[in-house]
Amino acid sequence: MTDYDWRPEQARKSLNRIFPGVEEKFADKLVDIHGDWQKFKIRLNTQWERLFTYLHALYGWQYDFFYTIERVLYSLVEYWLQRPPELKLLDEKRQADPNWFLSEKVVGIVLYVDLFSDNLTKLKDHIPYFKKLDLNYLHLMPLFSVPRGDNDGGYAVSDYRAINPDLGTMSELSELTIRLREEGISLALDFVFNHTSDEHAWARKARSGDPDYLNYYFTYPDRELPDQFQKYLRDIFPTIRRGSFTWNEEMQRWVWTTFNSFQWDLNYSNPEVMRAMMEEMLYLANQGVEIFRLDAVPFIWKRLGTNCENQPEAHTIIRAFNAMAKIAAPCILFKSEAIVHPDEVVKYIHPDECQLSYNPLLMALVWESLATKEVKLLEHSMRHRNRIPAGCAWVNYLRCHDDIGWSFDDDDARKVGIDPIGHRKFLNMFYTGKYPGSFARGVPFQFNPENGDIRISGTLSSLAGLEEAVEKGDNELIEKAVRRINMLRAIQVSIGGIPLLYGGDEFGQMNDYTYVTDPTRINDSRWVHRAKRRWEARDDLADQDTLEWRFFREMVKLFRLRKEIPAFQNGGMEVISTGNPHLFGYIRTFENQRILAINNFSDKPQKADTGSLEIYGARGDVVNLLSSKVVSIEGGLLVEDYRAVWLDIS
Ligand code: GLC
Repeated sequence: MTDYDWRPEQARKSLNRIFPGVEEKFADKLVDIHGDWQKFKIRLNTQWERLFTYLHALYGWQYDFFYTIERVLYSLVEYWLQRPPELKLLDEKRQADPNWFLSEKVVGIVLYVDLFSDNLTKLKDHIPYFKKLDLNYLHLMPLFSVPRGDNDGGYAVSDYRAINPDLGTMSELSELTIRLREEGISLALDFVFNHTSDEHAWARKARSGDPDYLNYYFTYPDRELPDQFQKYLRDIFPTIRRGSFTWNEEMQRWVWTTFNSFQWDLNYSNPEVMRAMMEEMLYLANQGVEIFRLDAVPFIWKRLGTNCENQPEAHTIIRAFNAMAKIAAPCILFKSEAIVHPDEVVKYIHPDECQLSYNPLLMALVWESLATKEVKLLEHSMRHRNRIPAGCAWVNYLRCHDDIGWSFDDDDARKVGIDPIGHRKFLNMFYTGKYPGSFARGVPFQFNPENGDIRISGTLSSLAGLEEAVEKGDNELIEKAVRRINMLRAIQVSIGGIPLLYGGDEFGQMNDYTYVTDPTRINDSRWVHRAKRRWEARDDLADQDTLEWRFFREMVKLFRLRKEIPAFQNGGMEVISTGNPHLFGYIRTFENQRILAINNFSDKPQKADTGSLEIYGARGDVVNLLSSKVVSIEGGLLVEDYRAVWLDIS
């Protein structure tokens, strides 16, 4: 016998109690929008029970729970009323086609406004550049008001409703989203919801001793609780600071700061924080943001005696935000930024939680395969770890603004005969160029003296060997690096999910070491791959056969081809056995179309045997869609070194 679940009935009762007051309060605003209001009510009725359940799980034990849900409901209506009509239309469009982002037509880019175009106004002038790449998803790195100096690349937000004045204004951002929508481009922004900067108004009020705002953060008068928590916590930025707590002189209290000492973790066990952050999110949604990258999701709930990562409540909080968005701004999608163990990464992916997620495992393992020239770990891991729920998609990236961490599963490694600990050391040596024969020019990030761990910074090009090759002026090495890069890109666009280009990689931008001259950046090697765009240099070179333009044209070609191949939409991906340790192969299928992709991670041509390929239905002569040439499978398929092939085996 299952227990009686009282929640549906109580959810309904509570709504019935609260709702008349809502209609009364907003009566004059509702008179002219009867149709829209009916639609809002349908969404509210559909989502309310689950929203109630999540909020009850988080806050039901607090005596003022009814007040919490009442305030949430009032805010949902208030922010929905403020939503511009064109965004309400977009909501309807997306509701009619909720899986739009699974399409092979969706490709994206992420960039820093200041590094790309100085500011938002000038960014608008570069929309034709996005059109050249045929992009329809633009992620702007955090552009909110932040403390001067070190602000963790924008991730220490002082005001979610104000743009960093160096970059522009909130109305410029809204105008930009209008222009972008006209061009079919959706805007993604970060929702930095784990922490605020210590200059945020909430933090300032906490510092001044306001008890309501002290409760927005985790602060402690002495080390008793911090010490108990600390035993189980890992250091995220160990070279900058040990431990997760920062002493604040003004308050005479310790503050929980998972990342930098100026980034104060928000206390989601306080329902006021949940509601306040919901309002910030809906405010931004009303400016035209369509996709929120949920920053640092694993850290949003703390529990004594655990490492305070990936707690069940973290999922409940995101699901509550998801339900709130579906009520008041239903076009919104969430992208999870969980760069943790692969078992945990997938738990955030669900239509009711984050419909999108970074794919850190694929990212790390393509680099792992480049270093080893073998694909066994990639093949094994992708075979059993790539599947996610229907209605969700991976966001596939090769590089981003952060470092690379080797987040594969230890048992996966052991299963294919790799010692995980030694292997991570090897990869770190390899990508910092210390391993004999390495082509990579990475920079160590966050050396942890306790366990010897490091992560890797560097651009796609520098890590793939281009920097070294160009420096040596060796054309053969340059060619190899170019091929490596293009092969990784071919995987990124074909394996399933949204390919997300890291701005600059489209033309092969290399490491920029000037960050070491900036005292606010010298301790953060991630700035090596956050370089200012040299438009002049690129525009002058237009259409010439420079490396930059070769990369650019290849990117355009790969995106164009992807959009012509329905099998590349999100969905099933079957990893195949190629019978060759250097060849990574998979099949993509849609209706009658079947594409067999094979990628050669070795620096020598490699053969996949006919027998292996025939099992998957490949025989005789087939077209390689990447080169538009016919190739024969008879006698085995020969794949050139560092090349990808896309065989149409429909
Ligand atoms: C995320 C960001 C990273 C930042 C951290 C703290 O991991 O990607 O750049 O340092 O969150 O906000």
